[in-house]
Amino acid sequence: MAHLLVTGGAGFIGSNFVHHVIDTTDHTVTVLDALTYAGNRASLAGIPDDRMRFVHGSIDDADLVDSLVADADAVVHYAAESHNDNSLNDPSPFVQTNLVGTFTLLEAVRRHKVRYHHISTDEVYGDLELDDPAKFTEATAYQPSSPYSSTKAGSDLLVRAWVRSFGVEATISNCSNNYGPYQHVEKFIPRQITNLLRGVRPRLYGTGLNVRDWIHAEDHSTAVMTILNAGRIGETYLIGADGEKSNIDVVRLLLRLMGHPEDDFDHVADRPGHDMRYAIDATKLRTELGWEPRFRDLEAGLTDTIDWYRTHEAWWAPAKDATEAKYAAQGQ
Ligand code: NAD
Ligand code: DAU
Repeated sequence: MAHLLVTGGAGFIGSNFVHHVIDTTDHTVTVLDALTYAGNRASLAGIPDDRMRFVHGSIDDADLVDSLVADADAVVHYAAESHNDNSLNDPSPFVQTNLVGTFTLLEAVRRHKVRYHHISTDEVYGDLELDDPAKFTEATAYQPSSPYSSTKAGSDLLVRAWVRSFGVEATISNCSNNYGPYQHVEKFIPRQITNLLRGVRPRLYGTGLNVRDWIHAEDHSTAVMTILNAGRIGETYLIGADGEKSNIDVVRLLLRLMGHPEDDFDHVADRPGHDMRYAIDATKLRTELGWEPRFRDLEAGLTDTIDWYRTHEAWWAPAKDATEAKYAAQGQ
């Protein structure tokens, strides 16, 4: 049994991870989360108090972070500003949380010699052409495009330096696009599902030919647990489940699964600097650590996800109007 400090545990992937830990281990968890617009305490409902403690605070609060890290056997760092579109409107919180917040955690794990796992994204590698047979590997050069991805790339580099210079016991994972329950309605898949539940047509940026490599959040959690338990210190592991699909095909699939004509969507203004394609080669994680994804069928995974949003309107409705007002102001 171990005690994990999970930052960002009230967000989408962090809350899926906390549920996974509670359901599959006897570990206890402290969640540190600032409850920004993206955090939702309700995503952790039902977890007993003797398994999880919730601390409302920021990862850039050095004293708070120091006291929580001192009590932990390991830190799993999910907290971030995570949405590309927001980073184009105001990069400032991205720099503060993703860079200064990560620095604050690294200094604490360095002082207390606590194992650290850093959650990152495939976006640090920039993008690929549609007709390029290549996928991202751990050897791909960093070439981030947006304020979001550049601050994530910077945070990865801080971790690498703290490993090499100070002997911090850290691993890094870079994962592709997640889907599943508890994802904020600003993101592509929940936005379209909740639009359709409200009788609004899906919105596709630009041509919709951009490709994302989809993985279920539960598979992301099993991969992170695998790396935490068996990953080699100082190493980076890419996480992906061979789920490449164009945005237009995802929208058509959602429309079909929700009983609408497949061309019942609108093209809207494109995202500035919009990355064309992400694709992950997860060979290292699969061969070295024996990890395999469980959700291999996107249609089945999306069917479950649609059901979740259909039955959890009370969870997503409070954020929907403000999110759509923000998009409307951007012509999206
Ligand atoms: P999210 O936006 O849903 O959740 C982020 C959480 O962090 C929220 O609960 C928020 O309140 C919290 N937070 C923000 N600033 C904080 C601060 N200063 N202190 C403490 N908590 C703070 O994000 P997500 O999609 O769950 O992403 C989680 C992590 O996974 C991020 O590091 C992201 O870069 C990474 N990631 C996401 C994806 C994806 O597809 N969503 C893919 C790969 C990697
Ligand atoms: O690749 C991992 C990354 O995936 C994570 O690091 C990020 O935190 C996460 O937000 C996600 O980034 P994307 O920018 O790929 O995700 P988003 O859900 O914002 O958009 C997915 C694709 O869909 C992208 O090509 C933009 C497009 N899109 C998005 C929205 C919200 C639309 O076409 N219409 C929309 O309404």
